[in-house]
Amino acid sequence: MSHDLTREAAAAASVDLRSDTVTRPTEAMYARMRTAPLGDDGLEGDPTARDLEETAAAILGKEAGLFVPSCTMANLLAILAQVRRSEQILLEAQAHMVNTERGAATFTGTFLLGLPGTDGAMDLDRLEDALHPGASPLRTGMIALETSHNAAGGAVLPLQHMAAVSALAGARGIPVHLDGARLFNAAASLDVTPAEVAAPVDTVSLCLSKGLSAPAGAVLAGPAPVIAEARRLRKMLGGTQRQIGIVAAAGLEAVTVMGARLAEDHATARRLSAGLNTLGPRIVASIPQTNIVQVDLTGTGRASARWIADLEAAGILTRPLGERRLRLVTHRHIGAGDVDRAIAAFGACLDAA
Ligand SMILES: Cc1ncc(COP(=O)(O)O)c(C=O)c1O
Repeated sequence: MSHDLTREAAAAASVDLRSDTVTRPTEAMYARMRTAPLGDDGLEGDPTARDLEETAAAILGKEAGLFVPSCTMANLLAILAQVRRSEQILLEAQAHMVNTERGAATFTGTFLLGLPGTDGAMDLDRLEDALHPGASPLRTGMIALETSHNAAGGAVLPLQHMAAVSALAGARGIPVHLDGARLFNAAASLDVTPAEVAAPVDTVSLCLSKGLSAPAGAVLAGPAPVIAEARRLRKMLGGTQRQIGIVAAAGLEAVTVMGARLAEDHATARRLSAGLNTLGPRIVASIPQTNIVQVDLTGTGRASARWIADLEAAGILTRPLGERRLRLVTHRHIGAGDVDRAIAAFGACLDAA
């Protein structure tokens, strides 16, 4: 057996809580991929990609959609298509667009100003202060939101908060973008439609390859002129792909079918969190609103790297959140038995400490 095959088999036998991005395509996705009508998306257009763009836009309640290789590119295009160089973007300080994607400022020439928040929601008074004409010589070109909020442990923005941000922005003619990588998780948690979550914002990005289980891809949706500009810019970035309907076919299955089961992942996450919190005061698991559990291991006196190594030896794959915390993400391949196995492994590692 080659090294790669050994690793693959080990990964398959593991309980993989690293991310919902590890989800594999469903059989229905493979079936759609095999029969998808294809074209050249850089020439006449790929009919399946167009179908996905129109379908996703309708589901999100927006005029038009654009299929892109990743949610990072969707967020980048939202900025490039709407914000001028030397303008600022206001967003919650722990947003993915700040934490992980802020290097994009090198390409966009924009400045990101992270504002303090609670559970992923910007403090509205601080937002209003930042919007005050005297606050900075920089013009504000965008306000960006994120739901569910990755770094806030999958927290979901209250719709009233989104509406309040939208009102502040609308009064000043500033567009609001939503990093909705996990928007369907937010919709499932709030028990509303994806369009209701996206209603307060102008543009929205949606990741297809997380809990929705497509192998790759994201959609940017919004007003037709903004999406037309994003389509032009996508070509400049090298994001126009050819017979991409093969991947878009899986995306169609993702947006039309897969959202309906995400509540299961949320229930699995709650079960995981509850089980970890029975292990004693040294391990503190967050109570999840969606599919992300943050585990604070400060009380164990051991660094996250050590925990990750010990858990991996027990077949549980996790990722660090800094030095003392781990992030566990539930998804389609995590069932009740996997949760029990993970809780037992945490308990055994704790006893061995
Ligand atoms: C909230 C959020 N936005 C954007 C992204 C980027 O997605 P992609 O990996 O498709 O570029 C992620 C990925 O984890 C995310 O969690």
